[in-house]
Amino acid sequence: MSNPSPPTTATEALEAWLPAYRQRIEAALDAILPPASTLPFTLHEAMRYAVLGNGKRLRPVLVYATGNALKLDYRRLDGPAVAVELIHAYSLVHDDLPSMDDDDLRRGKPTCHKAFDEATAILVGDALQTLAFRSLAEGDAADADAGARLRMVASLSLASGSRGMVGGQAMDLAAEGQELSLAELEDLHIHKTGALIRASVMLGALCRSDVDRELLERLDRYAKCIGLAFQIHDDILDVEGSTEQLGKASGADVQHEKATYPGLLGLQESREHAELLIERALRSLEPFDEDADCLRAIARYTIERQH
Ligand code: IPE
Ligand code: IPE
Ligand code: MG
Ligand code: MG
Ligand code: MG
Repeated sequence: MSNPSPPTTATEALEAWLPAYRQRIEAALDAILPPASTLPFTLHEAMRYAVLGNGKRLRPVLVYATGNALKLDYRRLDGPAVAVELIHAYSLVHDDLPSMDDDDLRRGKPTCHKAFDEATAILVGDALQTLAFRSLAEGDAADADAGARLRMVASLSLASGSRGMVGGQAMDLAAEGQELSLAELEDLHIHKTGALIRASVMLGALCRSDVDRELLERLDRYAKCIGLAFQIHDDILDVEGSTEQLGKASGADVQHEKATYPGLLGLQESREHAELLIERALRSLEPFDEDADCLRAIARYTIERQH
């Protein structure tokens, strides 16, 4: 019998890590979310609906993969992994609201405001956001000393707020129907999506206090590159993917006259741009040993994924 052939796609390469990381984050999210049997029932049910099941979990996987590259105990990483996924889930619930992208489908099921109602969806976002910071303040991340925890809180709040994701969302809405320059569009994507992806890597790294400055800068460069590439690929999938494959409405960007990479550069140039970013991300990881292979696979997965 011949040996199994080596992985050819990033998704196949990631299979070595993904099931365990996803199982870990799923259990940690389930544990921190209040049970739907506790008051207020509908709010708690809606929070669980918005968070559990079906997400790719890229951001928590990045926290674990960064921790792995730095040889950290996974138990330290659960708190930050949960925190960043809760912020992400909240951002999706609000992103889908009628006053924002007005989407009916998310992760293959009705969006939170469709399954519940708009007021509940707003409150779900609010509650998930505060729960995220509780996850950093409590929990095993907390093997980390108080100073490290404060740095994590500062890092995640900066990445989430008006100078990060929320700022990017404001830019995204303001850009509807406008022609942006490439520099402006890059800035928008770096904020709305890049900031949280960058924070995911930074939170993993902050769980260790003695990371060499140059390695930290390299991890940050890696994260910046994959964060931008991730949103470029999201824009590409909106054009090329089907609603069924994506689990969210395809073609929504054109419909809303969103500023996107394919809209500005066309599909081919957008793909090349994302590819160059991933090459730069991989070069940033050169000094790391094979414990960073998961980060390497994630970089390729960012632009190979089908949903
Ligand atoms: C969707 O993020 C929103 C963007 C920032 C592009 P993901 O593609 O990571 O969504 P889930 O978490 O897998 O549903
Ligand atoms: C959303 O970008 C980024 C967020 C901060 C949620 P998109 O609006 O492109 O995300 P999708 O395509 O709806 O998932
Ligand atoms: Mg949006
Ligand atoms: Mg959207
Ligand atoms: Mg999109």
